[in-house]
Parts: sequence; structure tokens; C-alpha cells
Amino acid sequence: MLLCLFVAKLASMRLKVVACFAIAVALFVAPVTAQPRASQSVDRRVDELLSRMTIEEKVGQLNQLFFLKQFMKPEMLEPDIRSGKVGSLLFVTDPAIINRFQKVAVENSRLKIPLLFGFDVIHGFHTIFPVPLAMASSWDPALVEQAQSVAASEARAVGIRWTFAPMLDIARDPRWGRIVEGAGEDPYLGSRMAAAQVRGFQGEDPSSPGRVLACMKHFAGYGAGSGGRDYDSAFIADAELFNVYLPPFKAAVDAGVGSAMSSYMDLNDVPGTGNAFLLRDVLRKTWGFKGFVVSDANAVGNLVTHGFAEDKSDAAYRALTAGVDLEMSFPGDPIAGAYASSLTKLVQEGRVTKNQIDEAVRRILEAKFRLGLFENPYVDESRVATIHNDPEHRRLARVAAQRSTVLLRNEGSLLPLVKGDPKISSVAVIGPLADSKRDIRGSWVFVDDVNRAVTVFEGVRAKVGSSVKVEYAPGVDLARAYPSIFEIINGRRPAAWSEAQKRAEFEKAVSLARSSDVIILVLGEHEEMSGEAASQSTIDLPGQQLELLKAVSTLGKPVVLVLINGRPLEISWAAANVPAILEAWHPGSEGGNAVADILYGDATPGGKLPVTWPRSTGQIPIFYAHNTTQEPETKKNFTSRYWDIPTSPLYPFGHGLSYTTFSFSNLRVSKPEMKVGESAEVLVDVENTGRRAGDEVAQLYIHQRYGSASRPVRELKGFERITLAPGQKKTVRFTVGKAELTYWSGALRDWVQEPAVFDLWVGADATAPLTTTLRVVPASSVLP
Ligand code: NOJ
Repeated sequence: MLLCLFVAKLASMRLKVVACFAIAVALFVAPVTAQPRASQSVDRRVDELLSRMTIEEKVGQLNQLFFLKQFMKPEMLEPDIRSGKVGSLLFVTDPAIINRFQKVAVENSRLKIPLLFGFDVIHGFHTIFPVPLAMASSWDPALVEQAQSVAASEARAVGIRWTFAPMLDIARDPRWGRIVEGAGEDPYLGSRMAAAQVRGFQGEDPSSPGRVLACMKHFAGYGAGSGGRDYDSAFIADAELFNVYLPPFKAAVDAGVGSAMSSYMDLNDVPGTGNAFLLRDVLRKTWGFKGFVVSDANAVGNLVTHGFAEDKSDAAYRALTAGVDLEMSFPGDPIAGAYASSLTKLVQEGRVTKNQIDEAVRRILEAKFRLGLFENPYVDESRVATIHNDPEHRRLARVAAQRSTVLLRNEGSLLPLVKGDPKISSVAVIGPLADSKRDIRGSWVFVDDVNRAVTVFEGVRAKVGSSVKVEYAPGVDLARAYPSIFEIINGRRPAAWSEAQKRAEFEKAVSLARSSDVIILVLGEHEEMSGEAASQSTIDLPGQQLELLKAVSTLGKPVVLVLINGRPLEISWAAANVPAILEAWHPGSEGGNAVADILYGDATPGGKLPVTWPRSTGQIPIFYAHNTTQEPETKKNFTSRYWDIPTSPLYPFGHGLSYTTFSFSNLRVSKPEMKVGESAEVLVDVENTGRRAGDEVAQLYIHQRYGSASRPVRELKGFERITLAPGQKKTVRFTVGKAELTYWSGALRDWVQEPAVFDLWVGADATAPLTTTLRVVPASSVLP
């Protein structure tokens, strides 16, 4: 992607290179017979169409191209659309251009096959929702589903019919920039979020109004790249692959996801885009996936770069036969268009069979028929503004941001601040992210109206009204060492300050803090510091933010730290010295309002961490579901595996405070013993023991004490976010049965559910102390 987008810059000089995608001039110009009626079965319609297609037209359906209007002109692509050499486009977001391209396809091409328009609709389109890592922090699948259905409707409004989301890569290394795009470290939480997103995008039927086809990505193992470096090789043992990295993808398939994207990196020495084990054996044969597979951008050609394929033609052969149906590429890049340039010849040479081509083309055509594109290829441009400006979308974005924030620390109940508190007549909102409309939204945002995004400074100002003086100072500047691909696309490169300016701004911020009654520090990362090609060698607070934090926090004023970021950052100093820390992630268009709602108690925080929060970079990788060592877990902080810092994280997985308190009690199992294959109910009472209404997330963890293979010390197997009034008590129920207790045994090389004693815990995070046991006996044994 990185390379191809740099190439994009040069694209205007390369108009002619697009012609490289052409394989041969279309030979058939016979008038097209009327399209089959919609009532005919999709299979028959595909058969009929396939029977009329030339090999070049078939290969055209397997070719998807980028169109970036910043760098390209529509005329560049139209000849290839007209001659049937392109079947799909991505990154076209202007409905007029979508209609223009579609018109060429359905009115001027020989077979009149509509184009399929795809785009990265990751966390919103016009209305931006919190980044996926934040949405996962809500532990609220219903909310996630609603948010993605809004995103789908806004994208669909401009003619986009397919999103390259959800990203389902488990991420256990926060140095990896793309941790922001997923649901964090846990396969169970990841699976629930995966299914919710698929439902949100596709609804019951992706062809119905306001829905789009989803694409699970990046299949598979991309989150395990060495050192957290983007695109780096992943080496994942089978047990870890099946138990940790694949479950969210399986959940998406079970939820009916319509497409999948192959990954860039090597998995156990085989690149994802040439990986027949993943794409054929696991995805199709074992899981029964019926949709189509698209490569990541230029990933087919990348098989040569990987040292896997001999040349572009060999790359096309390997990707197609491994199970990649559609090649995504960037026009003009020398490694792009491997299918377009090679498949016809490969068929002529007999290396690829006509059936292999037909199999891939069939899947693409099936998707186009199922999406109703043949009947309704165009988008109604007159409806875009109404759909995009639906106030309900903004309302939901605000609720989503409220529910995604995680209160990490709140010493002395500093939060919530009290509106109208006579002791507070001035508030300083300080930090490089405090008034940045761009950064409140996060990565993968291209087409929203940035001016409508609400910053924390704006949110606080609106919240407290004119009687309180609210002032802002950035304090420090923030920039990557080298520009991100998105800075190039979005045309943004934050200007670095001069040394003199740095000193002056720092002083200004500290003096503003000194003269204010309360300080809200907004620190973290700008939007391009996480996401694709945005890995970091450390998780330190970038730039001089720690110095600013220390300078401001030692003034003796109440300080609230609000984090705007896409990954856990090293905040150990803050965790010991700053009384209140609120993790807002990149909370989206309504982020500033939502943060202000939380800071001033109009909403109560209830989000929970979807990742273990390291104390420092040196602890990475750190995740709660690790296996125990030869020593009992309870001893780990005494016989530590590090002598310089504790083995425990700064904040555990699942952690998140509220403005009220909760107690968990009376943990019980419906039966103390059950047979393999049976289910038991686990019940716990949760009570709001404080004085405000609030949300708690009851989390069920299990541990299999012994078996054919060692199992993690704890594994999340159920959760429910509940709202309780003060004093209210509720019983939460979970089921523990085959689905929860089965795992892939590295010893037996198979899925097993074993007789064993299981520890169960239910509580507020992965360290929950309340525990009981469940004995599982062999299915054949006779219970007393
Ligand atoms: C490359 C990224 O890896 C992938 O996630 C994205 O969907 C494609 N580019 C298209 O933008």
C-alpha cells in the first residue's frame, strides 16, 4: 500500500502506464442481449453470462483498480472500463464519478456488467465513529452493529457497495500501528465484535437499502508481525493460529460475511496472498465460506517481492490457485495488475485452467447479482446530503464515543467535574490534540467534513457555558519522523515548530495552567501515528508530551489527563502522579462533546480495555491469556520474570472504572459437574454499590486446569454490559458448554473438549478474584 500510494503521486505522469493493464483489445462487439430477469436464480444468470464472456472479459472481472481523484482523472480509467478490463474500483467516493464510471460499464461495455465500488469504510464515512479499538472498548456489540449500519448507509448513499472492513486481526503488540483498526488482543471479544460488524454492514441482506457487503481482513495472522513492524513476517504455531488468530474470522464467516481480503505478510513462510492452506483448506473447505477473496493492494505482485513467486505471471498463478479471486492494484505501479497482464496467457499456456478462471469470475458475478447491481447500478445523487446529515447519526456517534471511553484512574474521585462549581472559574485545555479536529477522528478518514468534528476544547467550552473561562494552548508540537501515506493522500503534514517557538509555546501552556483552576491535558497521538504503516519502536508518548505533562502536573492544580490515541501508550508516570486519566482513543466526529459529557458527569464511563496495558515498551508482548510457567501464577510478582519492573501490566485487560462502584457476589454454577458436550449456566449477582447510575461489564473467564495441552491462565468466554441504578442488583447469566470449552490441542492436532476441572471467574476485569469450579467428566461416565 505504501509503495502504491507513493506511486499514486506520480500517477499523473503515468497516464499511459494504465494501458499496461490491457491484455488484448476486446474482439467482440456484438450487441448485448437483454439482461436476464431478476427472478432467475443467481446461478443460472451467472452461467448464462459466463457462457458469453471472452477470456479477456473474465480476467477483467478479476481486476480491481484504485481511483484517487487527488492524483488521477476519470479519463484514465474509462477506456479499460469500456472494454471490460476492469470489474471493480476502489477509493471512488464522489457519487457523480461513481455514476459516471458505472454508466461506461453498464451502457458502453459489451456485456454491460456493472462495476463494484469498494472503499475502506472502517469507522464511519461522513459521520465518524470512534476507531475500532475504541468501539471494542464499549464491550457493546449491539452498539457496534448500529454504528456500522450507519457507516454502511452513508457509504451506500454515494454508491459504495462494499467495505474493506471489519479488520479482524488480533493484535498483541501495541507497537503495531494497525492495532487501532481491530478489537484488540482477545479472540472471544474479537469474535463478538466481528459478528456485530458484519451484521451492521450487511444487515440481513447486503443488497437491501443502506447496506454494503463486508470484507473481513486481513486473512490471516497480520497482527502477529515480528516486532510490531507493519507487514513483517508472522510465525504462528498451529495452536495459536486456531485458538487465537482465526476465531474472529470464523465468527465473521458464521455471520455471513460476503468477502475476505488476503493479507500481505508471510505466515510461516507463505505470504497470505499465496497461502492455499488459509484460503482453500481453512476458509473454503473447513469453514464453507461462499464469498469471494480479494487481495490486499498490489499483494499479488508483492509475491515476487516476497521471494515467493518468480515473476508477475507466476505471482498471478500462485495467487489465483491459492484462492484469491480478485486482484486489487494500483494503476501505474510496476508490480500491479498481475492478473490483468498474465491470466489470459496462463490459460493459453495451460498452466491455469478455464475452470479455475471461471470459479473466480463466478464468485465476483454472484456478488454483483446478489447485490442487485444489475438491476440498480446507479446511485441517487440527490439523496446524499439528507442521508449524510441525518442528526440521528451524530447522536449515535456521540453515544458511541461516550460508551467507548475508558476511565483508567480516578483518584479521590476528581471526576466528574461539577458544572457550576463555584471554585472553578477557569479551565485550561492543554495539549497538541486538545483542539485538533483532524486528530479527534483517527486513521482511515478521508471524506467526512473535518470542520464538523468537535474537539475536546470545543466540547468543554460548550459544556461549561460562558460563565467559566476556558482557554487552550497546544504546549508542544507533534509530528512523525517521516510522513505517513495518509498525510500524502490527505495533503496534510503538520509543520514542525522552530526551537524558539517550541520554548515559547511550552511556557505559554504552563503559564495558562498556572493561572487556571482545573487543567485538562489532552495528549496522545495524531491520527496518522497509528493505522497502516504507522508502527512505532516504542509506545512512549510522542514528542515532548511527557515533559509537558510533568511540568503541568506539578503545579499543584487538579489535572485530568485525556488520551487521544490509537494504541496503549507508556503512561506509567501519569498513572502514579496524575489523579484522573480518561482513555478516549480517537473518539470520532462527536468526540469532543462525548469527552466533555464524561468529564462533567452527563455520561458515566463504562468502557473497558480490549488490550492489556503495558507498563513500558519492554513488556511487549504482554497479554492476559498467556500460559503459566513452571511457577504458580500467584507467585509471579515475587519470583518475577523481570527484576526491573513487575511482571503485571499497568492496567489489566478488561479494566475500566466508573463514577459509581459495583460488587460481584454469589458466583454459582447450575451444576458442579457435567459431561463433555453438555452445558452449565454460570450466574453471578452484580450490584451497584455507589450513588450514581452506571454501567458494569460482567466478564466470565475460564481456565482448564489440565489436559492434552497447557491452556492459558484465563480466557474470556462471556461478557455482558449492564446498566444499574444505585443500589440495584442484577443476576447475569452465562453459558459454559462445548463452544466455550473446546480448543485446538497442539498435542493432538485437533479440536478437543476434554474432561477436566475448570476454574471460572466472573468480575470486572481479567484479574477478577471471584471464583468457582466446574468439573467436566467424560461423556460416557456415569454420574453419581
Ligand atoms: C491496504 C490495506 O492493508 C487494506 O487494509 C486496505 O483495505 C487496502 N489497502 C485498500 O485501501
